[in-house]
Amino acid sequence: MKSNQKIFITGASSGIGAAIAAEYANQGAILGLVARREAKLEAIKNKCLELGAEDVKTYSLDVTDVDQSLSTAKDFIVWKKEGIDIVVANAGVAFSDHLSSGDPTQINQTLLINILGVTNTVIPFVPTMKSQKEGAIVIMSSIASFTAPAYFGGYSASKVAVRRLGDGWRTTLQKHNVQVTTICPGYIKSEMTDINDFKMPFLMETDVAAKKMVQAIKSRKKTYILPWQWRPVIAISRLFGKKLKSI
Ligand SMILES: NC(=O)c1ccc[n+]([C@@H]2O[C@H](COP(=O)([O-])OP(=O)(O)OC[C@H]3O[C@@H](n4cnc5c(N)ncnc54)[C@H](OP(=O)(O)O)[C@@H]3O)[C@@H](O)[C@H]2O)c1
Repeated sequence: MKSNQKIFITGASSGIGAAIAAEYANQGAILGLVARREAKLEAIKNKCLELGAEDVKTYSLDVTDVDQSLSTAKDFIVWKKEGIDIVVANAGVAFSDHLSSGDPTQINQTLLINILGVTNTVIPFVPTMKSQKEGAIVIMSSIASFTAPAYFGGYSASKVAVRRLGDGWRTTLQKHNVQVTTICPGYIKSEMTDINDFKMPFLMETDVAAKKMVQAIKSRKKTYILPWQWRPVIAISRLFGKKLKSI
């Protein structure tokens, strides 16, 4: 693997995104880190530089903003050295549907950030990846894309949508040697799961998960479900056509 890969990661201010950034920093990558909370991003940048990143640029960006997403990608592509190796569309939220409120605002936010946030992040890099004839697109879906969790229909739907986007893009881009890896995590320790007050089966530490994700990207996996215990659970439930009740 090239030591100074150029890697762009959204949702890098905490949790899985920050842990993936640290993992690539260990490998001497050039990193573009995106999130809305600048102070948190700055702290992750400093950590990545300490770990051995060649250089790190932070972008305070809301991934729902198309124009800003386009200009950020343009900026990162020409920064340090021309090109892009890996884009990780990881930013996401897990708001409940608020069905009984009669107000669609919250579910719309989930759909907007988790779906259009991915298209806004990935598509600005595609022309460069095509012309380079190489690149990797990484999409953060969820095991919730295989389940029908009560109260989180919007979240589950958003994760189905991005998994299917990944499947389509993989077929479209394979002739250009552009890889698409969709990651479907179960419960991983992060700000998102720290608020859960129920027992989370197979809960995995963030740094352990990030190591496994980076390995899956390197191995050009198409769809990667982790922790492994979810694979038989999902396979069996699909085989019998049953819906899992909760994530
Ligand atoms: N943890 C799990 O168990 C689990 C399981 C399955 C899938 N996932 C997925 O993994 C991804 C990362 O989640 P996490 O668990 O690491 O949670 P997290 O710690 O809450 O991280 C979410 C990240 O997304 C960023 N973000 C949210 N909305 C954004 C927006 N509009 N624009 C830019 N950045 C935004 C947040 O940064 P700012 O708030 O600073 O913008 C933060 O860095 C999500 O897509 C999540 O759905 C997580």
